[in-house]
Amino acid sequence: MQRLLLYCLLAVTLTSTDVLAQDLNETIDVKKLAEVVKSPAFQTRVVGGEVTTNGKLGGYLIALRYELNFICGGTLLHDLIVLTAAHCFLGRMKIRDWLAVGGVSKLNDRGIQREVKEVIKSAQFREEDMNMDVAILRLKRPMRGKSLGKLILCKNHLEPGTELRVSGWGLTDIYESGPQKLLRTVTVPIVDKNTCRASYRPKVNLTDSMFCAGVLGKRDACTFDSGGPLVYRNQVCGIVSFGIGCASRRYYGVYTDIMYVKPFIEQSIKVLLAKR
Ligand code: ARG
Repeated sequence: MQRLLLYCLLAVTLTSTDVLAQDLNETIDVKKLAEVVKSPAFQTRVVGGEVTTNGKLGGYLIALRYELNFICGGTLLHDLIVLTAAHCFLGRMKIRDWLAVGGVSKLNDRGIQREVKEVIKSAQFREEDMNMDVAILRLKRPMRGKSLGKLILCKNHLEPGTELRVSGWGLTDIYESGPQKLLRTVTVPIVDKNTCRASYRPKVNLTDSMFCAGVLGKRDACTFDSGGPLVYRNQVCGIVSFGIGCASRRYYGVYTDIMYVKPFIEQSIKVLLAKR
């Protein structure tokens, strides 16, 4: 059931006992999975990239916390609207326990904090294969401040090889125990869909709502980068969704394809902003 989520989170559960233990499903052979994820053949140490600040990026990156714990990244699309991944909400459905934090670079900075009023996950989101891994949240009060910025939705389909920027507080090493204190960023090229499909077969079937990016063994997003944007010229074109390991030598990072999910996003924003 939660196999994909497990791949994303196993790195954390391997090293820290507390946070995500509840995500483990007894039907899964965790030991076997651990071998896949930790095996040196598939796994190298870091995601590459460098430390940055939210301001340098454009101020669009949001830190999403649940019961005060950092869970996922997000993108500010509008004063009241944040884009993220649907899987961030698995097992975390108490809306009032979510907090969106803007304008932070160091994860523990205070920033501009807003409570969440409502979340819409795609009705086609499937935990089994992470199909349609997209969610929109509406904040209780507008997120405003001079350190903040917004992104617009992707305008065009991008060719394989195009370099995009992914940023977040995710792990730089799967043996790490928690999110990074400092914000990091890396550029990753879009990967031909068939190439990526083939690399994931037969383990995972990539659906139409996904595309891949990264450099095998070198550059990738990782656990806790989820929900954050993959950016091309001030446009959000992807959402960090899943991967097996991080900067694996075999598996690319998988992102939700904004061009594909745009109708859902636009419709959800309309619905959320229509309510007062
Ligand atoms: N599912 C992960 C998370 O919850 C994101 C993993 C992205 N992994 C990757 N290798 N690109 O944070």
